[in-house]
Amino acid sequence: MPNPFNPYQPAEGRLFANRKQEQLWFQGDFIPSVVPDNFGTYNAAILGPWGIGKSSLVRQLKYLIADSITEPVAMTFFSCTTGFGSLTGFCSAIVNALRQEALRLSRWDQSLEQEMSQWSWEIHLPGVTASRTRGTDAQSSVSAAEFLRSSLLRLWERAFRAHGYAVVIALDDVNLLQAIDPQALMLLRAVFQDLHMYQARYALVVTGPPDLFSEIRDIAEPVIRFFEHLTLSAFTEADVADAVREPIAAVGVPLTVEDDAIRWLWERTQGHPYFVTYVMHYVFQAAIDAAWSTVRRDHFQQLWPAILARLGRGKFRDDWDSATPAEQNVLRAIAQNRLDQINRGLVTRLVRKGLVTKIDRGQYALYHPMFSEYVQRHDGH
Ligand SMILES: Nc1ncnc2c1ncn2[C@@H]1O[C@H](COP(=O)(O)OP(=O)(O)O)[C@@H](O)[C@H]1O
Ligand SMILES: [Mg+2]
Repeated sequence: MPNPFNPYQPAEGRLFANRKQEQLWFQGDFIPSVVPDNFGTYNAAILGPWGIGKSSLVRQLKYLIADSITEPVAMTFFSCTTGFGSLTGFCSAIVNALRQEALRLSRWDQSLEQEMSQWSWEIHLPGVTASRTRGTDAQSSVSAAEFLRSSLLRLWERAFRAHGYAVVIALDDVNLLQAIDPQALMLLRAVFQDLHMYQARYALVVTGPPDLFSEIRDIAEPVIRFFEHLTLSAFTEADVADAVREPIAAVGVPLTVEDDAIRWLWERTQGHPYFVTYVMHYVFQAAIDAAWSTVRRDHFQQLWPAILARLGRGKFRDDWDSATPAEQNVLRAIAQNRLDQINRGLVTRLVRKGLVTKIDRGQYALYHPMFSEYVQRHDGH
């Protein structure tokens, strides 16, 4: 029996639940914006903390596009990583992927293939060698952007427009590009705005943490306005019910989960999608193994200690270990509600690591009450 609750991969297709408002925006605004004769494409930034469902939503877009459009739309998906090494490396990767996509869509059109093979796909930077690619120097950033702009324009004119395709480019975890080069978002915005001027129908969707734009706010107001912001928050109780019942229905198992059990799960997980899926992964398995036909609150309660122990080994210990000893002291202080004693600089670093959430001015909490419970119970050991 396949387990439809997989906390290790983004949920998409039949396993995707909720996010109705965001899906409506994609269906009603974003997708129509990429068809010809519209007044330019829209761009979106999906924002939210770790595990809230950003990658899932951006992957779901592929299904929305397939469902709702008569117009052909190509979509390329990039998980950003600092492994690109430089903005130059990243731009080459994007152009390469789009080149493959263009050839695929044109069914390996031979004349196009030949033409493309004659284009220069290398970025020629005076004075920049392969061993010096990790550059945040202005020249390499600008050259990378110029390369991206001219390549996308060329691909548009020669391949995508010719075959009637609009192109959606999704950059998951775009903050990792910002980590390589703080100019990354500014340059992307400049490039995509220029493409719009040439009526090249490229739309950009990025994902990132809630503070993606706050660090560049002073210089990047136009970047902020360039994107529709879709900020994801935790599931409501009704959302949790859907996230639990829809995947079970999708695999066709006659298993009922009582409302009371859903409420208990919602309270414990605070509707955090990752934890909902993680818990359900084990509860579903237990239900199949023991041939239950109904899952009740007491089933959850009975399985809870084992699930928490697993989460401790698999997730919370890594979280704890990713903090320095001084930061661990702060985590402990926040878990025990001794907020007056904490060091602001360290808290800021913990917020950036996603381990601490700012609730209000001077008010902080660990990113999830289950992590807080772990820190208090184990004192991090
Ligand atoms: N809309 C959704 N429907 C069902 N499960 C979801 C949904 N969003 C997130 N999840 C679950 O939560 C987990 C984390 O989601 P993910 O999209 O990877 O978050 P993020 O990219 O924000 O870190 C996924 O593995 C999936 O199991
Ligand atoms: Mg993700």
